Amino acid sequence: MLKKLVAVFLSTALLALAMTGCGGSSSKGNLVGVAMPTQSLQRWNQDGANMKAALEEKGYAVDLQYANNDVNTQIQQLENMITKGCKVLVIASIDGSAISDVLAKAEKNKVQVIAYDRLIMQSPNVSYYATFDNFKVGVIQGQYIEEKLGLKEGKGPYNLEVFAGSPDDNNATFFYNGAMSILKPYIDSGKLVVPSGQMDFTTVAIQGWDSAKAQSRMDTLVTANYAKGQKLDVVLSPNDSLAIGIVASLKNAGYGSGDKPYPIITGQDCDKPNVIAMISDQQSMSIFKDTRTLASKVVEMVDALLQGKEAPVNDTKTYDNGVKVVPSFLCDPVYADKTNYKEILIDSGYYAEADLK
Ligand code: BGC
Repeated sequence: MLKKLVAVFLSTALLALAMTGCGGSSSKGNLVGVAMPTQSLQRWNQDGANMKAALEEKGYAVDLQYANNDVNTQIQQLENMITKGCKVLVIASIDGSAISDVLAKAEKNKVQVIAYDRLIMQSPNVSYYATFDNFKVGVIQGQYIEEKLGLKEGKGPYNLEVFAGSPDDNNATFFYNGAMSILKPYIDSGKLVVPSGQMDFTTVAIQGWDSAKAQSRMDTLVTANYAKGQKLDVVLSPNDSLAIGIVASLKNAGYGSGDKPYPIITGQDCDKPNVIAMISDQQSMSIFKDTRTLASKVVEMVDALLQGKEAPVNDTKTYDNGVKVVPSFLCDPVYADKTNYKEILIDSGYYAEADLK
């Protein structure tokens, strides 16, 4: 009888332990909030899943939320994370300048904050920033264009159109400036010509990184500048969501057929549809940012913050958020195209061959 009672007691206790998650890993002290912008782009799903897995492996409990690219939804989610007792918030912001108030609340509740991929602006309450070298992303895109067109060898002139990312995302300016650091000298020397004349960041930026908006801007450019047989040689697209819209527009305008091949089109993220587009010669390249590397860096930062230690950083100068320079770790981006995607994306285990069919 006693044995039976003890057994019942033990199993009840175990069940209670499992339900409250008091084995250590999901206790309140170990709760980490991960706020991602949207599920509509593949990369953020990958980021969220990697972060969750990497944190859980280290024994943390994770509250992972996606905000449908809506700033108020993200603010609400951050409020909830603070209320639930998260000790650290990992945030990929939608509008980098719009979350100062909720971060002040985090600070009051001793909740620490890591900016994930995108810098959080205008707030003192950001301990660290982990990202890929955003300027370098643009430089690699610019160099790809430089090499494919033979610009260094003096070839040209070629017709170029320029796109940039969302103006509320601090990264967008870095991508643009990086690419322009390579392309601008050729524009100045006349080896690259921009028939639309649209080049400055504000004019070419696409709000919300929206594919449909990129498509409609490309439609307008084609009608205004390329309708009479002028050749479009290259489109600088900062990322894959814009590239999707640009390719769709050009396809409607008859590109991709024998005598009208697609221009060189750049991208970033190596989202599956874009890699498929690369394989079928619609998009030329995409920057690969291995989200597994970023996730493991951020987990190191979380660990350091919760142990009161300093996290490893490799940049303490570049990322000024308007209030402070946020100590950063910059991971290294590379590019993938039709010639090397197998090595970069499949051999590394990022995708299976079947993902790209
Ligand atoms: C990220 C890019 C992404 C873009 C749109 C940027 O902040 O760095 O990888 O393509 O947002 O989501």
